Amino acid sequence: MNSCQEQGNFYGNATPFELAEEFGTPLYVYNESILRARCREMKGLLNYPHFKVSYSAKANSNPVLLSIIRQEGMEADAMSPGEICLLSAAGFQPDEILYIGNNVAAEEMKFAIDRGIPVSIDSISQLEQYGRINSGGRVAVRFNSGTGVGHHEKVITAGKNAKFGISPDLIEDVKKITSRYGLRLIGINQHLGSLFLDFEAFLKGVQALLEIATLFPHLEFIDLGGGFGIPYHKNEGQSRLDLIKLGQSLDAIIGRWNRDYGKEPVFKIEPGRYLVAECGILLGAVHALKESYGITYVGTDLGFNVLMRPMLYDAYHELEVYSKIMTDNHQKKTVTVAGNICENGDIIAKDRELPVVKEGDFIGVMDAGAYGYSMSSNYNGRLRPAEVLIREDGEPVLIRRRDTLEDLMRNQVL
Ligand code: LLP
Repeated sequence: MNSCQEQGNFYGNATPFELAEEFGTPLYVYNESILRARCREMKGLLNYPHFKVSYSAKANSNPVLLSIIRQEGMEADAMSPGEICLLSAAGFQPDEILYIGNNVAAEEMKFAIDRGIPVSIDSISQLEQYGRINSGGRVAVRFNSGTGVGHHEKVITAGKNAKFGISPDLIEDVKKITSRYGLRLIGINQHLGSLFLDFEAFLKGVQALLEIATLFPHLEFIDLGGGFGIPYHKNEGQSRLDLIKLGQSLDAIIGRWNRDYGKEPVFKIEPGRYLVAECGILLGAVHALKESYGITYVGTDLGFNVLMRPMLYDAYHELEVYSKIMTDNHQKKTVTVAGNICENGDIIAKDRELPVVKEGDFIGVMDAGAYGYSMSSNYNGRLRPAEVLIREDGEPVLIRRRDTLEDLMRNQVL
């Protein structure tokens, strides 16, 4: 049973069939109560009084979800002017946003500077550029302290093979450039990578960042990054991240470090996935069944244009089958669930044992709220899906319309 479902009926007052009928498929469905619960868990991670949770908007940047996240007291990080716009539309104030640029144009830094949004810089060359356009200004610096974590090599963002952050051997250069341009280094940040459930490596990274922080005596904040994992294999009993133990360890590390530092800077974390993954189910329709060379294919509208994670990272998502006509529910079959995109890698689940599926059934892809819609595309001329929120009172509301063919044609120069 999915954790979403453990917390009651994910779909509120509607059924998957009614949602599919009213809004069409593929459809992202989000549950507001689960989103709020995850935000509250993260806010309670530390006892430390100067603790802030900054939501990483790239995981899901629907403005309605963003505004709920803001109501729950989160700040946010942005990776682009586009995310700054979305966050601003959701009510985030400039001082609640950190712009964490990676290889960005000077105009993009200026976009943030002009709006009073602090910028984190991730290379010596960009620190120079920043100094030139905002001399005397405030700046944060992203370090790569040498440890990475993550569920796939493509999402490990620190360590020896990562393009992100400034390595500690360049600390003197950071100091020289900040002083040459009169910059005030207000914060340092890092992000080790995405998805850890065992947090030893994360804590090692925290210690490494704090060693760097010691060398900068006037920091207002230290941002430990995101990466907090969720269990995608719930049916196999995979455990949740132990937030209580993690919080205790962090509180102890921070308490000790602060005593030596002599000040109490703000400590931030930047979760993306943890807040939004489990509040989202991607709903799709079964259009075809096929037996071919011993494989049973379930053909759906869940192409990798709507959920890229399985194709890109071999990521695993649990599936639920919704059948209007109930047959013998205990009968199971091993199938491969495919999408409707013209590539053979367009497989959402390979060799998966599922209740027997029929044409006209629907499939729910669990834990799809993070890096689902935000990584979707118009590949194969497909239209990006609609998004629906199941409000706390159980009522479904449309929070993003499905793309239309007019949307697809809008910027074409014919
Ligand atoms: N902070 C920074 C600077 C980041 O680059 C990221 C994610 C986060 C925070 C949030 O990480 P999270 O808490 O969500 O793990 N598309 C991949 C994940 C890529 C993460 C990119 N950076 C996936 O679907 O697994």
